[in-house]
Amino acid sequence: MSQSRQRQPLTYRSRILQPESERAADTHPLTWRLRDDGETVWLDEYLRKDGYQAVRKALSEGDPQTVIATMKKANVRGRGGAGFSAGVKWSLTLKGSGHPRGYIVCNADEMEPGTFKDRLLMEQQPHLLIEGMILAAWANNSRYGYVFLRGEYVEAARSLNRAIEEARQAGWLSPDINGSGFDFDLAVHTGAGRYICGEETALINSLEGKRANPRAKPPFPGQSGAWGKPTVVNNVETLCNVPAVILHGADWYQGLSGDRSEDGGSKLYGCSGPVANPGLWELPMGTTGTEILDRAGGLRDGLRLKAWLPGGASTGFLLPEHLELPLDFDTIGKTGSRLGTGLLTVVPETTSMVSLMRNLEQFFARESCGWCTPCRDGLPWVVKLLQSLENGQGEPGDIEMLEKLAADCGPGLTFCAHAPGAAMPLASAIRYFRHEFEQGIGKPRAQAHQDPIPAGQV
Ligand SMILES: Cc1cc2nc3c(=O)[nH]c(=O)nc-3n(C[C@H](O)[C@H](O)[C@H](O)COP(=O)(O)O)c2cc1C
Ligand code: SF4
Repeated sequence: MSQSRQRQPLTYRSRILQPESERAADTHPLTWRLRDDGETVWLDEYLRKDGYQAVRKALSEGDPQTVIATMKKANVRGRGGAGFSAGVKWSLTLKGSGHPRGYIVCNADEMEPGTFKDRLLMEQQPHLLIEGMILAAWANNSRYGYVFLRGEYVEAARSLNRAIEEARQAGWLSPDINGSGFDFDLAVHTGAGRYICGEETALINSLEGKRANPRAKPPFPGQSGAWGKPTVVNNVETLCNVPAVILHGADWYQGLSGDRSEDGGSKLYGCSGPVANPGLWELPMGTTGTEILDRAGGLRDGLRLKAWLPGGASTGFLLPEHLELPLDFDTIGKTGSRLGTGLLTVVPETTSMVSLMRNLEQFFARESCGWCTPCRDGLPWVVKLLQSLENGQGEPGDIEMLEKLAADCGPGLTFCAHAPGAAMPLASAIRYFRHEFEQGIGKPRAQAHQDPIPAGQV
């Protein structure tokens, strides 16, 4: 195994950069319980801070359909990146008489470069995720749950395992939760370190002990997922929104974003790259890039902003002029990019877009599962072309070939969204910074380029 493939346990902790005094229960449903000292909120403290009240409410009201209706009305859009309504997904899951009880799977793989939000929630507030999963299980009549966790997240695994045990001892997990007759239990499953395991059907294969190839759809997981049973896969942040939605209602949730966005709720936004204060903030959905960059203290060392990714390496580059846009699913979608995970990656003017793309495409090529040709064979070709351009040894036609390879990886042409995710930053980098790619044709460079992201982190 090469040096860059060795997995390093991440032992430092994520942090939220808003003090407790700025985070209130009625405005910050995801983070108001987090402590300034960064210590985990265990069961006693969670219960003092309204913990498990949403489960108590939902189970005593007695109708899972009420939970689904509230989730649909609140329109909690999936925070794993695709933005699909969790309530709609739950309403389509097979359940009831004639259908076996299935699974709730929390997607905690979080291998998207530049993304570190789910980790904070799991490390410091594991009971919120457990409560969200119990509510999802209740709504979907699921018998068992799994948190499919990125293997490097050792702190998150510790927090979750301890919290699951606490919840079990206190009667919030199986059997007969809080005297309701409903039984549900869950376990943490740590992954072995592949980006493709974050794709929901590859994740299900991996959970079953199979090779992590995506599955053809249909059938969708809600019809036939893990071990052939109806399975709901949701992101950590999506599930962490559920308790507050059930406790305070859909209208309250919708109102959190005010007139900033058609999408309701708050979002765990973040910023990384050469900024003064990289980190995370819970802000109303539709907060602008400018506000987030301001909170991050702007670029360090007098650097100037060249471009930014709105939500991970698989989103398209945007320009400084896009910073004023509300960061929500539809607005960012209209630019040709995607909101993705909502964690901004900042690119300064000193970074070569060709080198940055070579770095990212090496990651995407390495993480391809190899099932479809444009992804398996096209992405290594993309890397070769980018390496030539980076070394000033590109040839006329290389940029057009890169554009063709990106188009061949477009939506609908491959089994899963990995290839379109690899194509989007490439196509946008060429669109906005073509001159930098052109400079790589037949002109050796005097100066070596610095890798913007150290090998091993991608
Ligand atoms: C290559 C690839 C990697 C993905 N990685 C993740 C991930 O780490 N976490 C995640 O929540 N979703 C990831 N997704 C999206 C999932 O397939 C799925 O849409 C998501 O878990 C659904 O949850 P949500 O609706 O709550 O967002 C990935 C998708 C692809 C194509
Ligand atoms: S697009 Fe890539 S990762 Fe997805 S199924 Fe095809 S080869 Fe595998």
